[in-house]
Amino acid sequence: MKKIAVIPGDGIGPEVIGATLDVLKKVAPGAFEFEEVAMGGNAIDKYGEPLPAESLKICQNADATLLGAVGGPKWDNVPPEIRPERGLLGVRKGLKVFANIRPAKIFAPLASACPLRKDIAEKGIDFIIVRELTGGIYFGKHEAFTTPDGEKAARDVMEYTEHEIRRIAHVGFKMAMNRRKIVTSVDKANILTSSRLWREVVEDVAKEYPEVKLNHLYVDNASMQLIRVPNEFDVIVTENTFGDILSDEASQIVGSIGMIPSASLGDNNRGLYEPIHGSAPDIAGQDKANPIGTILCGAMMLRYSFGMMSEADRIEKAVDDVLKAGLRTPDIFTEGTTLITGSKMRDEIISRL
Ligand code: IPM
Ligand code: MG
Repeated sequence: MKKIAVIPGDGIGPEVIGATLDVLKKVAPGAFEFEEVAMGGNAIDKYGEPLPAESLKICQNADATLLGAVGGPKWDNVPPEIRPERGLLGVRKGLKVFANIRPAKIFAPLASACPLRKDIAEKGIDFIIVRELTGGIYFGKHEAFTTPDGEKAARDVMEYTEHEIRRIAHVGFKMAMNRRKIVTSVDKANILTSSRLWREVVEDVAKEYPEVKLNHLYVDNASMQLIRVPNEFDVIVTENTFGDILSDEASQIVGSIGMIPSASLGDNNRGLYEPIHGSAPDIAGQDKANPIGTILCGAMMLRYSFGMMSEADRIEKAVDDVLKAGLRTPDIFTEGTTLITGSKMRDEIISRL
């Protein structure tokens, strides 16, 4: 029996997680044991901190962790060190999951939800963002201070060590070996010293993968090329903040941020799985949230952590079938399709498993 730590979180988190657990129970009855964990705003309310030690321990002892989303306006004014997002970063760091895999693939039935020109979308979009997840500005020193002139100032440090870059580069090249063998490393080496080290180390790692073609792009150019020629991308490897920003851009290219799952992996199989969307407090509790991103996280978990390939395939196929049937939550609705609620989306996916 696989032990799964479940963090429903805040906002739409519990809705999309509930749908995903139902899907997992259907696809492999009796295969999993779920333990619910408090993290995020709900943990602040209950325990006064976003990530109680006990919560992290449960995740560390589980075979995998499934996470909905955390945060919301209710906690916007809590001190920065106990913000819900701190809890999220604590889980990522505490599980040592340095490689965040964010696939951006256009589902054929959703082609009309792609905002790009038809001739661009038709060339197909299928790339993966490999985002470094436990370094960079997110985990560098954060400081608010006063200058000698008495002016308010603040700084956030972007710092990378060679081994942090090396291990994430390996993840990217290995992924590319199983795909179209193109790696695009995204940095800002024309400005940032940390990016120059990034580029140097990525080039060194590339020597171990002679079959893979390596390109470098500055992040501003990358954001442009993703819209201009998305079909030319295969695997993008980039640091934490750039990956955060580019993956939101990628989500719109493929239709909706509600569709994209992610897997965060470390040196072992105990991954952390979370959709790339946030807690969407504006639609929470209204049964409007698209559960597909999280349900696809469930499929990634089966594949990467548990080696349950056929079950993962079945989930992905059921999602594809529902989309082919023209069923759409509000975020992916276009004219001529059928608008349904989030729970109906769950039911329709389950009935096709
Ligand atoms: C994401 C999110 C998080 C991040 C937030 C909620 C802290 O935007 O997973 O992309 O910045 O990593
Ligand atoms: Mg983000």
